[in-house]
Amino acid sequence: MSSEAKPVLELQNISKSYGSVQALTDVSFKAYAGEVIGLVGDNGAGKSTLIKVISGAHPQDEGRLIVDGQERHWKSPHDAMNAGIETLYQESGLAPDLTIGSNIYLGREIERKGLLGKLGFLNQKAMEAGAIKHLENVGITVPATKRTVSELSGGQRQAVAIGRAVAWAKHVIILDEPTNHLGARQSQEVLNVIKAAREQGLCVLFISHTLPHVLEVTDRIIVLRLGEVVKDAPTSDFTVESLLGTITGLTV
Ligand SMILES: Nc1ncnc2c1ncn2[C@@H]1O[C@H](COP(=O)(O)OP(=O)(O)OP(=O)(O)O)[C@@H](O)[C@H]1O
Ligand SMILES: [Mg+2]
Repeated sequence: MSSEAKPVLELQNISKSYGSVQALTDVSFKAYAGEVIGLVGDNGAGKSTLIKVISGAHPQDEGRLIVDGQERHWKSPHDAMNAGIETLYQESGLAPDLTIGSNIYLGREIERKGLLGKLGFLNQKAMEAGAIKHLENVGITVPATKRTVSELSGGQRQAVAIGRAVAWAKHVIILDEPTNHLGARQSQEVLNVIKAAREQGLCVLFISHTLPHVLEVTDRIIVLRLGEVVKDAPTSDFTVESLLGTITGLTV
């Protein structure tokens, strides 16, 4: 990324503790449009906490969060979503009993026109058609958007959840371990969606313990250890071995 470009997301000295556990200490980095950043670190390193701060799920204790040039203070995840940040948490957040289409439009339902809309009737047809379009845009084909999410395989559910995030994100999409529990082919589909999101000019924060996936899909890698950034470097600087060494602290 050009150093003259304006970061779409900037963290300055973010710290956060849970009681006596210091989960994040002085975390700072900049992220740019069209960039995929890998956020890696051992269990408990602070990755999920960091994305919860960025996505408005937990406020930081200290530090500044700047999105699209403006300092932000989220009161809830909705504030972050309205500012163009979509997050896929470690738990996917899909409603299993709703159809794929309804899940894509969860919280953003399209109402019927006129009186029916005022009475709360939803335009299912428009949502099903829109959902297919949103998913196809990022190369996801699902069996039929009228199926409920509970009828899908784990990989298909994950694809829908990611498709939803890419569909609505304006600036940043955060994926916390999206390839967990997926087979090789389905993981590859997820990686392809990440690449499609980058092509759409989104900034992607990709959290994963699967280092070959991180090396394949990211432009830059930020390594957290015990809540601190210990390395922030282009992906081409790393191999699986050196990345593992940086994560564990056993090599420098
Ligand atoms: N809600 C919470 N209450 C108290 N402590 C928490 C809470 N969430 C996380 N922690 C603690 O904060 C630290 C960072 O946890 P976090 O979940 O951010 O790690 P992580 O890097 O996402 O780990 P993993 O790879 O296992 O998902 C850990 O010590 C964890 O025990
Ligand atoms: Mg986590």
